[in-house]
Amino acid sequence: MRILVTGAAGFIGRMVVEALAARDDLVVDGQPGQIASIIATDIAAGPLADLSARHDRVCAIPGSLDDPDVLARIRENAPDVIVHLAAVVSGLAEQDFDLGMRVNVHSTIALIDACRAMSHPPVFLFSSSVAVFSCPGNDTISETTLPAPMSSYGTQKLICELLVRDASRKGFIKGRAIRFPTISVRPGKPNRAASSFASGIIREPLAGMRADLPVGHDLRLHLASPLKALDGILVAIGLSQDTIGVETTLTLPGTSVTVAGMIEALSRLAGPQCAALITPRPDPAIERIVASWPGQILSPRAESLGFSANANIEEIIQEYMDGSQQAGR
Ligand SMILES: NC(=O)c1ccc[n+]([C@@H]2O[C@H](COP(=O)([O-])OP(=O)(O)OC[C@H]3O[C@@H](n4cnc5c(N)ncnc54)[C@H](O)[C@@H]3O)[C@@H](O)[C@H]2O)c1
Repeated sequence: MRILVTGAAGFIGRMVVEALAARDDLVVDGQPGQIASIIATDIAAGPLADLSARHDRVCAIPGSLDDPDVLARIRENAPDVIVHLAAVVSGLAEQDFDLGMRVNVHSTIALIDACRAMSHPPVFLFSSSVAVFSCPGNDTISETTLPAPMSSYGTQKLICELLVRDASRKGFIKGRAIRFPTISVRPGKPNRAASSFASGIIREPLAGMRADLPVGHDLRLHLASPLKALDGILVAIGLSQDTIGVETTLTLPGTSVTVAGMIEALSRLAGPQCAALITPRPDPAIERIVASWPGQILSPRAESLGFSANANIEEIIQEYMDGSQQAGR
C-alpha cells in the first residue's frame, strides 16, 4: 500500500512518517497490509529531503497543496491511505483569515477532489481539533456536544469535518476526522498555536529556561501526549468504514488537567526550582481563545472504538522527559 502524509514536515507529520517508516505492515480499514511507500508532502522542502534521505520507502513531494502540480502528483501516486495534517495553526489562522481559509479549507477540498479521480476511495484521515467546540466557563462537555467554534481555525476544522463526512457518504473517500486534544509536550520552539504555552510551560523550564504563562492557573486543558496522538492516528486508520459508520468524526479522549496541576506535576517530577521558572504574563488575546475551549471532553464512543487517553499529566511530562534524554535535547 502507498500512504500519503500531508504536512509531513510538521510536528505530528514527522512523527507519523518516522513511525510508518519503522514498520512493514499496517492495519487499514480493518485489513492488514504491507507498506510499500510513504509519500511525504509539505511546503517545507528541507525536512522532507531529510526524511527521504534517511528512509528508503519515503519519497518527497515538496510544494503547496494548492499547487496543481502537487495535486497532479498525488493523483498519479493514487495513495491507499491519506493522513492529512497540513494546516495553519490556530493563532495564525485567527490573525490571517485568508491564509487559514486557503490552507485549512480550500486545500482540503482540493485533496478530496483529487481522491475522486482515483480508481478506489482511499482511507482519508483528517486532523481536526477540539477547537471546534466552545463552551462558557471552560466546562466539561461530551463528544456529542454541538460544535460551536469561537475561532476561525475551529470553524475551518468543522467545515472540513463535514466535508469528510459527506465525501465518505458519497463513496469518494473512506473518511475519518479525528479531533486531537491539545498536544503536550511538543518539542522544539513555541509555535503560533494559541495553546503553545501548554507545551512551553513544561518544555522551557525542563531546559532551564524561563516560560511565560499567558493564562490563569485555574484554566483546564484537555491534553494528549504526542505518542498518544500518534496512537490515535494509527487506531483511526485501522478502523473499518463499517465500524465507523456515517458519523466519521471522532473526538479523541484526553487527560483533563488545570494549569496549576501541570505546574505541580512538573514540580514533583523535576523539582520546585524548575517549576519556579514559569512566570505569569497574562495575554488577553490568548486567554480569550483558550477560555472558550472545553476543560474536559467525555468521549465514550471513541473509547469503545479503541482510542484511549494518557493515564495522567505525570505520564505526559515523563514521556517528554524520556524523549528529551534519548534525543539529547
Ligand atoms: N499539535 C496540536 O496540539 C494539534 C491539536 C489539534 C489539531 N492539530 C492538527 O494536527 C495537524 C498537524 O499539527 P502539527 O502540530 O503537526 O502542525 P505543524 O504546524 O507542526 O505542521 C503543519 C504542517 O503543514 C504544513 N503546511 C502549511 N501550509 C501548507 C500548504 N499550503 N501546503 C502544504 N503543507 C503546508 C507546514 O509547513 C507544516 O509543516 C494540523 O492539521 C493541526 O491543525 C494539532
